[in-house]
Amino acid sequence: MPTIKFISHDGVETDVEAKAGDSVMSTAIDNGVSGIVADCGGACSCATCHCYVDEDWTEKTGEATDVELQMLDFVLDQKPNSRLSCQIVVADELDGLVIHLPASQI
Ligand code: FES
Repeated sequence: MPTIKFISHDGVETDVEAKAGDSVMSTAIDNGVSGIVADCGGACSCATCHCYVDEDWTEKTGEATDVELQMLDFVLDQKPNSRLSCQIVVADELDGLVIHLPASQI
């Protein structure tokens, strides 16, 4: 099972075991990780699952789709490594993935 490390805006690290095929968002929600709201439940229409993919992992997680990029325009503190966590699908190759959480979604 791949492990994902979530790091809160103030540096608290939470390691969770994820299931391949689940989204990073649902992995966070299912494991009680705060910092992901996910109002739309993963439909790519709320942007409250904003996260920052650690620089070492941006290639492996791939690029945001056009729809995702449009939604990212609504987030606070957008950065080049911003993603919507509901659009990142967990895979075995993402074992060790590091996700940083923004201060704006507490
Ligand atoms: S959960 Fe709404 S955009 Fe990701």
